[in-house]
Amino acid sequence: FPIQAKAYTDELIQTAKTIASPGRGILAIDESNATAGKRLASIGLDNTEVNRQAYRQLLLTTPGLGEYISGSILFEETLYQSTTDGKKFVDVLREQNIVPGIKVDKGLVPLPGSNNESWCQGLDGLASRSAEYYKQGARFAKWRTVVSVPCGPSALAVKEAAWGLARYAAISQDNGLVPIVEPEILLDGDHPIERTLEVAEKVWAEVFYYLAENNVVFEGILLKPSMVTPGAEHKEKASPEAIAKHTLTVLKRRVPPAVPGIMFLSGGQSEVEATLNLNAMNQSPNPWHVSFSYARALQNSVLKAWQGRPENVEAAQQALLIRAKANSLAQLGRYSA
Ligand code: 13P
Repeated sequence: FPIQAKAYTDELIQTAKTIASPGRGILAIDESNATAGKRLASIGLDNTEVNRQAYRQLLLTTPGLGEYISGSILFEETLYQSTTDGKKFVDVLREQNIVPGIKVDKGLVPLPGSNNESWCQGLDGLASRSAEYYKQGARFAKWRTVVSVPCGPSALAVKEAAWGLARYAAISQDNGLVPIVEPEILLDGDHPIERTLEVAEKVWAEVFYYLAENNVVFEGILLKPSMVTPGAEHKEKASPEAIAKHTLTVLKRRVPPAVPGIMFLSGGQSEVEATLNLNAMNQSPNPWHVSFSYARALQNSVLKAWQGRPENVEAAQQALLIRAKANSLAQLGRYSA
């Protein structure tokens, strides 16, 4: 059954396959300058371009990273940066068979008419920006929007989130970028896991409905969902097995097997929790490549080890490799703590 031919269809499918390759996942380092500032402040560093470049250089030049990491999402500033000896970051990645990606959304703002919820900006000018990012070496994109369980979610907020993701996905594919579709259901709240399951069913249904309506090629996207867990303030924590069971139940009900990869976000879980939950997901066969696209759950111990000191760079890179390898094993269902 041929897929509707568009300029980049074959390349998109190939890119998505490379990112969803066995034992590998995504290193997300696409923090906006404001968020990068918070991470740097946690180790007493100022939020300067020099410090952001030094930190991203540490991460991206980690020897052996490509064994566990298939793609890295960058912020616009990083896409155009180089190492201190003048090698472009995109080339550093390509040499390790890591696909460079780019965050293209412009962040969240209040959604008037909703229950104190938000929507994600960035569609204006997206086609020309995407074409520029492709020229610079990016081959996939990310757009993160959020849905809040305690705020409703309202039908309006869910529809807006799903429609925005679908428009972004169509525009990305038109410009050669594999869209990572990220409808994050925030962890905040004291609701039980069953409530998150209900919300995920609703959100993922609308997302795939509008993706289809926008003629997005499902073989050339990646889904980046949050795991189905109880709210962070719920009285009981769920085991990795319970999280895997609930998450896989909704994925199977809502996500077509044509989608090559499910790349989870960590969303505030600890490093080890995020690894254990992913490992539990991969204990039985499922139709997709079920993997990770973690920011905090890959970076927390790196920052601690680094402390902004050149003499700690090697130890910090080792810390990154430890987490990357653990999540690689979890992707294969072979991690043990
Ligand atoms: P976390 O893994 O820290 O939730 O980040 C997810 C993300 O969207 C970064 O690209």
